[in-house]
Amino acid sequence: MPKLVIIYGTGSHNTEMMARAIQEGARTEGIEVVLKNVNDASKNDIKDADAIAVGSPNYNHAMMPTVRKFLGELADTDLSGKTGLAFGSYGWSFEATKGINEMLASRGLKMLADLCIKRMPGEDELKECRKAGLLLAQNSKRKEVLYV
Ligand SMILES: Cc1cc2nc3c(=O)[nH]c(=O)nc-3n(C[C@H](O)[C@H](O)[C@H](O)COP(=O)(O)O)c2cc1C
Repeated sequence: MPKLVIIYGTGSHNTEMMARAIQEGARTEGIEVVLKNVNDASKNDIKDADAIAVGSPNYNHAMMPTVRKFLGELADTDLSGKTGLAFGSYGWSFEATKGINEMLASRGLKMLADLCIKRMPGEDELKECRKAGLLLAQNSKRKEVLYV
């Protein structure tokens, strides 16, 4: 079964809300979805994933150090052929998602457009997150069809 892994950091739960909505959207496609706070995640979690979404809020013009550390652990991992998404909540700038996108793209992931929501997501923004989850799930399925 195609698998999406969602890893996120969060300070005040806004990025966590996004992660949960991405999970909801992906589940409507009937794929396996794993959702983990970055504090509980390791690179083993993503090795058999078809799609990977990594989220971080923007703090002090950067992604959270815990998310940066997790991505750093992927330095020797080839993730080519997988689909990726960078997402996160922000106040006024986009360094976190930009940095996640660059790090994942450098590992060979094919990245969707970054998903950035200002502060706490409302119902419209959560809908956007569900849509991104759906898109990730559809890409995972397409990969299964291509490679089986
Ligand atoms: C100490 C602090 C620093 C912040 N620095 C930035 C920043 O550099 N750029 C930005 O866009 N937002 C910044 N923010 C706003 C957060 O990104 C925003 O509140 C976001 O919704 C937090 O997401 P979270 O609930 O997932 O932690 C900052 C917030 C705090 C409390």
